[in-house]
Amino acid sequence: MGDSIRYGIIGTGMMGLEHLLNLRLIPDAVVTAIADPHEPSRVNGKNTAGPDADVHEDYRDLLARDDVDAVVICTPNHTHVDVLDDVFQTDKHVLVEKPLCTTVEDCLRVEQKAAGHPGVVWVAMEYRYMPPVARLVHEVRSGRAGRMRMCAIREHRFPFLPKVGNWNRFSRNTGGTLVEKCCHFFDLMRLILDAEPVRVFASGAMDVNHLAEDYDGERPDILDNAYAVVDFNDGSRALLDLCMFAEGTRNEQEIAATGDAGKIECFVPESNVVIGRRIPREVETVHVPVDERVLKAGFHHGATYYEHVAFRRAIAEGGPVEVSVRDGLLAVAMGQAGERSVELGRPVSLAELGVS
Ligand SMILES: NC(=O)c1ccc[n+]([C@@H]2O[C@H](COP(=O)([O-])OP(=O)(O)OC[C@H]3O[C@@H](n4cnc5c(N)ncnc54)[C@H](O)[C@@H]3O)[C@@H](O)[C@H]2O)c1
Repeated sequence: MGDSIRYGIIGTGMMGLEHLLNLRLIPDAVVTAIADPHEPSRVNGKNTAGPDADVHEDYRDLLARDDVDAVVICTPNHTHVDVLDDVFQTDKHVLVEKPLCTTVEDCLRVEQKAAGHPGVVWVAMEYRYMPPVARLVHEVRSGRAGRMRMCAIREHRFPFLPKVGNWNRFSRNTGGTLVEKCCHFFDLMRLILDAEPVRVFASGAMDVNHLAEDYDGERPDILDNAYAVVDFNDGSRALLDLCMFAEGTRNEQEIAATGDAGKIECFVPESNVVIGRRIPREVETVHVPVDERVLKAGFHHGATYYEHVAFRRAIAEGGPVEVSVRDGLLAVAMGQAGERSVELGRPVSLAELGVS
């Protein structure tokens, strides 16, 4: 491998296209192959990847190629575990879309196999890489808010979009909304609080969206709103407030990280970070600009680009794997504990799920 890194994209639906658009902005990134069993996705993928990319129906043909150094897995959640199994038969680097898998059991299996893999294994947690979120984490780390005690994350947004084959309408394919969507936020809670989750107490329902949908006689079974409270092992706590019928909102994501000396907030897509101190009381608003080209290359406020820059650094320069399989596993475990808590009406510990 010279300076350039040759990528293969597995799954060229919505997120696969976003990765392709962002790889165009990464110096020395070349996409040599794409794979997708669905013809319209292959056509979209080829149109976005350009003339140099070969097209496969079966991702195993892509994995057999010598001119692919790194793969990006952008297939439906329930397929990640088997695709990863095949990637682990090769020496390729891998960026796997969130959630790592749909269950803790599958994540533990992946963790075991990933341990012996010679390539970089990185879980795509794009929200860490949104510039205002990264700035919030930086301010928290600087100690300006003191010792972290609380983290509140609100996502109020539009409903789940339609997907190829409607896979995202059923919890058996997604892991449930608290795994599928909210693994991002559970991951951010761990990052911001720098602590590990102990138990989750959640309440949620499918109250407004998807009620009239019918897929061959089957109704969707995914939450469209929830609150989840998480206790952490250092006594800190976090709250998730999810609403997916809230298009009428100024910001989709609002995060408040509060310590004993102050409070850091961030707002996306306004791209503002508010830094507040208690004594003497001071509140400062900082706008965090994002390059227009990067903003236009996806739906995640520039995050996918910055994630690829870091993934590339890990491959080419031996930089750190910033989002490990363990990080991916814990985000899924918190989501699964939340889903189970909604079902049972009581807090669910991570230990109950076999996570230590
Ligand atoms: N990080 C984020 O914010 C974010 C946002 C959206 C989606 N995602 C994740 O990206 C993944 C893909 O989601 P999407 O929104 O692109 O869904 P999608 O339905 O738009 O695309 C999925 C594609 O995978 C293809 N596919 C299915 N099985 C395959 C296989 N065995 N080999 C190759 N291709 C296969 C489908 O034909 C389809 O084209 C999911 O894991 C999802 O959770 C992440």
